[in-house]
Amino acid sequence: MLDAKAIKKDFPALNQQVHGKDLVYLDSAASAQKPQAVIDAIVEVYRKDYSNVHRGVHTLSERATRHFEAARETISRFIGAQDSREIIFVRGTTEAINLVAHSYGRHCIKKDDEIIISEMEHHSNIIPWQLLCEQTGAILRIIPVTNSGDLDETAFKKLCSSRTKLLAITHVSNAIGTINPIKALIAEAHRHNIPVLIDGAQGIMHQRVDVQDLDCDFYAFSGHKLYGPTGIGVLYGKTKWLEAMPPYQGGGEMINQVSFEKTTYANIPHKFEAGTPDIASVAGLSAACNYIQQVGFEAIHQHENALLHYATEALMTVPELRIIGNPTERAPLLSFTVEHIHAHDLGTILDHAGVAIRTGHHCAMPLMKRYGLAATARASLAIYNTQHDIDVLVEGLHKARGIFKR
Ligand code: ALA
Repeated sequence: MLDAKAIKKDFPALNQQVHGKDLVYLDSAASAQKPQAVIDAIVEVYRKDYSNVHRGVHTLSERATRHFEAARETISRFIGAQDSREIIFVRGTTEAINLVAHSYGRHCIKKDDEIIISEMEHHSNIIPWQLLCEQTGAILRIIPVTNSGDLDETAFKKLCSSRTKLLAITHVSNAIGTINPIKALIAEAHRHNIPVLIDGAQGIMHQRVDVQDLDCDFYAFSGHKLYGPTGIGVLYGKTKWLEAMPPYQGGGEMINQVSFEKTTYANIPHKFEAGTPDIASVAGLSAACNYIQQVGFEAIHQHENALLHYATEALMTVPELRIIGNPTERAPLLSFTVEHIHAHDLGTILDHAGVAIRTGHHCAMPLMKRYGLAATARASLAIYNTQHDIDVLVEGLHKARGIFKR
């Protein structure tokens, strides 16, 4: 079992007061706080090792390039990729998915082809495919979600056909926490020769992801939810796809030769990394992977599951509070409503108690519609949260009910 109190000390931002109360941070699904090790890694780049990468023969540039490519190796090992060339640095999950929609989409999707997503997707895994369908005449198919918040797997099986050219599905629902059985979904899709993109934005930080074991074709995630910096994320793609796909953006180091007659492109991964990358954030992301590995996924899983169980029981003591969904497997986040109190009011009252949660539609409007809701309050748990944090949350909710008493 990990020592969350000790871990909390590694995160300087958690050691502060908000409205005169000790901060209780329960919004890590939106963005996690950063350990000192990540902050130090970023500062170290700018203090000592900073220059542009892949562009100079001078010492600083060579050093920066060496660190940058070593970080790619670290991240590649972190997700069990076969080859570090399968790691493409992007701004975040959203850009990773847009890259695939543009590049794989242009290469492989045509009129009347079908793309399967689900009703529980984040807008970032809906809109790129809608845009692609508008541009190509392809058709978007939607896997429904059951009342409990699971994917309707029977419906999914029926949707798979020879017309399907991609399954793009979330690992974990950011809105209600469902952990999807992605390994089984991938196997089923592959039986129909359908490649699979996993939106790992909410999955990567809670369990060990092994892309070879999953056998996914693409896996997208952001650094900032993984205790790393903002502005950096990863698209993992199998070599065979990345080599076949055309570049996404042009410019910078993604070329081999440029002439007005014909331009040829660099090999992967650089073919997909146009422009100067976020060099310091890559170092920060690598430090975040090392930090998490030191904590250990087994300990993370045990801690977060125990806390989720505690939080579920504690929330149920609040009258008229309804937890949305009861999926077979849930990541450590709970979406809820309290009758007669708007989620934003809950958010504001809790903020005054020092508690940070997210409120709103969570960029998952179709799922909200599925449950007939405009907004929920969402508490998301991380390695640094404690039972005391949950107690403060629940106390704040009781107080909110007191304020809104009718
Ligand atoms: N997608 C992030 C969330 O769920 C921002 O809060």
